[in-house]
Amino acid sequence: MTTDRQSDVRLRAYRSEDFPILYEIDQACFPPGVSYSQGELARFLAQRDCRAWIAEAGGRIVGFLIVERGGPTYAHIITIDVRAEWRCRGIGRTLMDAAEEWARDRRLAFMYLETAEDNVAAQQFYESRGYTKVDHINGYYANGRAAWLMVKNLAAAERIARSKQQLTTDN
Ligand SMILES: CC(C)(COP(=O)(O)OP(=O)(O)OC[C@H]1O[C@@H](n2cnc3c(N)ncnc32)[C@H](O)[C@@H]1OP(=O)(O)O)[C@@H](O)C(=O)NCCC(=O)NCCS
Repeated sequence: MTTDRQSDVRLRAYRSEDFPILYEIDQACFPPGVSYSQGELARFLAQRDCRAWIAEAGGRIVGFLIVERGGPTYAHIITIDVRAEWRCRGIGRTLMDAAEEWARDRRLAFMYLETAEDNVAAQQFYESRGYTKVDHINGYYANGRAAWLMVKNLAAAERIARSKQQLTTDN
């Protein structure tokens, strides 16, 4: 269990009774055709290689993230959703920190995700965390919208952070 440094937001593991709230939040966060159906969301959450974190404040679920182990060297963010009234308080950052730490612990070198071409706020959020647009996928979503495929090299980011720390210690 971790606590967000800017507020009393806490992360915990997903429990099956959270499902209706997660579905409600996902429906509110994304337009039809980008949001997941109940069946899709349930399938991800039931997968053995998926992990989900819940962000809670005052006993209420305010956001969540689902990640899957996509292969031997990479992980895939399925979705990250923060309730509109709780955005810009560091909750998304805290959820992504947990997912990236989980991936690093499994020695996965890359994290990737897809985000709608017109979701500029999300692209800026990911870019602020070191994700880069590597491919443009036409018609990715059920509503016909295109997506950006974005990737972060977790292994390189960790090596750079370590060598920066070493430089600070040496100076
Ligand atoms: C994208 C999302 C998860 C970000 O969560 P959040 O809790 O608001 O993000 P944080 O407060 O942790 O922001 C971390 C950093 O991301 C960047 N960022 C976040 N929201 C941003 C926005 N609307 N515009 C530009 N940059 C943004 C900033 O650099 C921010 O750092 P700062 O607080 O020092 O300025 C949230 O806006 C959301 O749930 N949106 C709807 C669902 C969605 O689009 N999910 C991702 C699609 S795949």
